[in-house]
Amino acid sequence: MQRQVISLRQESRQSEINIGYGIRRNLKKLVLRTFGQFPGKSILISNKRVFRLYGLEVMADLKTVDTKVFPWLIPDGERYKSFRTFESAVNTFAEIGVERNDLVIALGGGVVGDLAGFAASTYLRGVRLLQMPTTLLAQIDSSIGGKTAINLTAGKNLVGTFYQPDAVCIDTQTLGSLPARELVSGFCEMVKQALVASPELFEQTVDLLRRFHMDQAIIATPEFERLIEAHCMFKASIVINDERESTERTDSRSRRILNFGHTTAHALEKVTDYRYFRHGEAVGYGMLVAGELSKHLGLLSPDKLEQLREAVNLCGQLPSAGKLDVTQIKAALKLDKKSVRGQINWVLLDDIGSPRIVEGRAISNKVLGLSLLEGLGISRRRIERSH
Ligand code: NAD
Ligand code: GLY
Repeated sequence: MQRQVISLRQESRQSEINIGYGIRRNLKKLVLRTFGQFPGKSILISNKRVFRLYGLEVMADLKTVDTKVFPWLIPDGERYKSFRTFESAVNTFAEIGVERNDLVIALGGGVVGDLAGFAASTYLRGVRLLQMPTTLLAQIDSSIGGKTAINLTAGKNLVGTFYQPDAVCIDTQTLGSLPARELVSGFCEMVKQALVASPELFEQTVDLLRRFHMDQAIIATPEFERLIEAHCMFKASIVINDERESTERTDSRSRRILNFGHTTAHALEKVTDYRYFRHGEAVGYGMLVAGELSKHLGLLSPDKLEQLREAVNLCGQLPSAGKLDVTQIKAALKLDKKSVRGQINWVLLDDIGSPRIVEGRAISNKVLGLSLLEGLGISRRRIERSH
């Protein structure tokens, strides 16, 4: 049960990211090391599925010390990352009598992490928070960097805070129970991160993806753990320098570059009512579209685009996007919440590991249309017939 620690010292506070196979069984030690003493109360937020798999163990471990543990479960699914669930969470905190030094533990994927983080950041203007991500996506991305959110009818993640967890506990053993589709989704986020990070992280990621297809047991090896660690270190390096994702920054190490593939991904999720794609799958298509745009603008060479395509392919099968309506997608792109003064900010690539932020006005409607068709695999004949 080796443990790697990455220290994430930011403007607002320091988070320690702990990574190791089976480390959920050492939570007690981690809590003591982080806070110096046990909190009076710990609220364990999870969902039924994850709680059944890992929650009871975590509770049993914490219960042996001087802290009262209150499990609080939310239903499973993106639609429960809502105002209603948030309201119910903070009302529960009030009923339990949560104090500022008490601890909220988020045990689950990005949905649980974002919701629990938002509740912890707002209740009493902030209580202690420990993230225990159990999906690949959450382990390499959403549990790190302090973004919390809930969804509105008008769109995803429209309400949220930047609130750094006091600690993150990444138990890579929990990946063993992930459904195949959740792994695909996590692999896509990994490829996204690798593409904007460096040729080295990209190579390392692609190599492990290739080997995963020969032997899936690789996700339980120290090598895979090191890959997760490398991803966490990269994300931490970006967050340290731009904690609140400044809208003024356009350089290749600004936090905005982590949104590579997300402009199209959010539009795809919106036009399909958040019911068709897993988030990472939509990012998979988003990367393909961003790759095509980069090629058409003369930024990315055809051979590097081919490497990008191969990497997305290695993530696994994505649900077909071939029947989606490009006009609807274009309309949804216009509502992108990351727009600045009405301009979409596309994250594109000059090369693998060299992202560039490009304003929407630099991209003609024709190039955008073409890139959407190519990236999403929509046949041009079908479009011509429908006009
Ligand atoms: P999720 O939280 O819905 O989890 C996916 C599914 O896996 C769920 O059914 C869950 O119950 C199940 N699950 C979780 N861990 C499991 C395990 N170990 N074994 C078996 N099943 C398990 O989805 P996700 O992909 O983890 O997260 C997506 C969310 O994360 C979205 O809401 C997205 O907006 C958010 N997100 C946030 C950030 C951020 O920086 N805060 C970044 C990326 C994504
Ligand atoms: N997931 C992108 C970010 O944390 O900034």
